[in-house]
Amino acid sequence: MTALDTERLGRRAEAMLEELAAISEEPDRLTRRFLTPEHKRAAHLVGQWMAEAGMETAEDALGTVCGHYAKEGETPGANVVPRLLIGSHIDTVINAGKYDGMLGVVAGILTVEHFRDAGRRFPFAVDVLAFGDEEGVRFPTVLSSSAALAGRFEERWLAGADRDGVTLEEAMRGYGLDPAAIPTAAMRKDEALAYVEIHIEQGPVLEHDDQPLGVVTSIAGQNRTRVTVSGMAGHAGTVPMPLRQDALLAASEMMLAAEAIARTHPEAAMVATVGQTKVMPGAINVIPDRVEFVLDLRAASDPPRLAALREFVTRSEALAAARGCAVAFDTYHDCPTAPCAPWVADGLAESLTSLGLPAPRLVSGAGHDGQSIAHLTDFAMLFVRCRGGISHNPLESATVEDMGLAVAALIRFVEQFDPQRRA
Ligand code: GLV
Ligand code: MN
Ligand code: MN
Repeated sequence: MTALDTERLGRRAEAMLEELAAISEEPDRLTRRFLTPEHKRAAHLVGQWMAEAGMETAEDALGTVCGHYAKEGETPGANVVPRLLIGSHIDTVINAGKYDGMLGVVAGILTVEHFRDAGRRFPFAVDVLAFGDEEGVRFPTVLSSSAALAGRFEERWLAGADRDGVTLEEAMRGYGLDPAAIPTAAMRKDEALAYVEIHIEQGPVLEHDDQPLGVVTSIAGQNRTRVTVSGMAGHAGTVPMPLRQDALLAASEMMLAAEAIARTHPEAAMVATVGQTKVMPGAINVIPDRVEFVLDLRAASDPPRLAALREFVTRSEALAAARGCAVAFDTYHDCPTAPCAPWVADGLAESLTSLGLPAPRLVSGAGHDGQSIAHLTDFAMLFVRCRGGISHNPLESATVEDMGLAVAALIRFVEQFDPQRRA
């Protein structure tokens, strides 16, 4: 094993993240949603880096950039080549930080570059994947690009529209992708050996415990439920308060009910968030007659989360009725808790040990592509400490030192990776 210059790796990662962060839909903040021209520019840059690092590159039917580092003695065009998958995402939330997702992609590229420079190949290929729809902030889909890779893309997702009425199908065509080709994005189960992802923690645990890196044990389950509340529009000056059917007031009570329900389940680390609302008709002097919002509900185990969702529905129906309103629910995303595979997580822990680092374990409250890849192959994740646990915010930050250690850990993981350990 050669010594690793972790400081250089960290600096390289930081420089690449800086370059990616400059590609934004908005001039003064980082916003790069799935299938936008900026997503395409970021995908192009990542593909260029992958090629420079010694990978063959391709774009799959959902726009995922796939870099392939051939196994030793690989015959070009060989049908089934066993691959270790390394990945993360290059889409962002609105007003994002520059580490969420991008760090995992950059770490994979730097890892392959290290082996190319060392002239090293393995008995398996290494594929680096840059997914485009992890955040799910544009269309009513979440993880659709990794779902396609896992062969779990659902045709009905194509009709889902963004805020401007552009459907996923239309956006795919605009990006230059063919929806009919989606099945070709699916990888064969016998090709994938395991999936690993490096990601900033997005929470405060590692910083609190003074640890640079941690090994993830599982990803919290999540649902996203669109709630549509219907009332009656009316004049803001003439309709007396008791005679109103105000959809926004009913929706507000529902949001507070969601908060109250989540607060009663600290044992399941339950969290409820409403980060997007649409108020119609949206005029200052008109009583709102229709409100749409999405409840994002997560917990470390599934039964309390599903019970909480049922309770939310029952309470919301009563709250709507009390105001003469109607309410409808559409749970378009319901992802169970995804446990990491112990043999892959142990491999990551051993790579930390080989660097002289402790290997604390922690749960991920944030969602990740591993949740859909779990249907294809075993997965595990390595978390990197981030300042103040802040994420989904431009203040997101990780140090050069910690990122260098994370890339070094990934290099050691690949060197020590033994597919025979799979049960
Ligand atoms: C993605 O970051 C999510 O957890 O929503
Ligand atoms: Mn992410
Ligand atoms: Mn995110």
